[in-house]
Amino acid sequence: MEKTFVMVKPDGVQRGVVGEIVNRFEKKGYKIVAAKMMQVSKDLAEEHYGQHKERPFFGELVDFITSSPVFAMVLEGENVISSARVMMGATNPADAAPGTIRGDFAVSIGMNIIHGSDSPESAEREIGLWFDKSELTDYEVASHKWV
Ligand code: PPS
Repeated sequence: MEKTFVMVKPDGVQRGVVGEIVNRFEKKGYKIVAAKMMQVSKDLAEEHYGQHKERPFFGELVDFITSSPVFAMVLEGENVISSARVMMGATNPADAAPGTIRGDFAVSIGMNIIHGSDSPESAEREIGLWFDKSELTDYEVASHKWV
């Protein structure tokens, strides 16, 4: 079963939509394998967003992610990597459809509420970066046979 890394960014935590976001993923039928509130270090932020190092907004993005706690999660389920991205909506909230997380809760690309891994390779890398293996649970959800 596929796993992905999802993070509610500082703006989502500050605006009190963590519960609503978690609720959407749970109701959809995804299993929460791990979750934690954390203050991100500069090193972790720079490593996580390393592929964007040369982009003009890199410094601003690192400052933003380290400015206040984030809520990090690992979700599991069928096609969860691409499906969670669909649920999040377009990276730029101006293009995100109503009904998606960014379409419903965000306005600007600088504060777009949520991050989700964009491929199986990113998911593996990001889960390993943000979570220790011992933090990932392995359990059965009875209702999942109905999903
Ligand atoms: S994507 O989805 O990876 O193709 O999006 P991309 O446009 O490459 O953006 C990568 C991440 O950088 C964030 N971003 C910005 N932050 C601050 N200011 C500006 N102008 C900006 N443009 C893009 C964007 O939200 C993506 O963050 P994550 O956490 O990966 O969604």
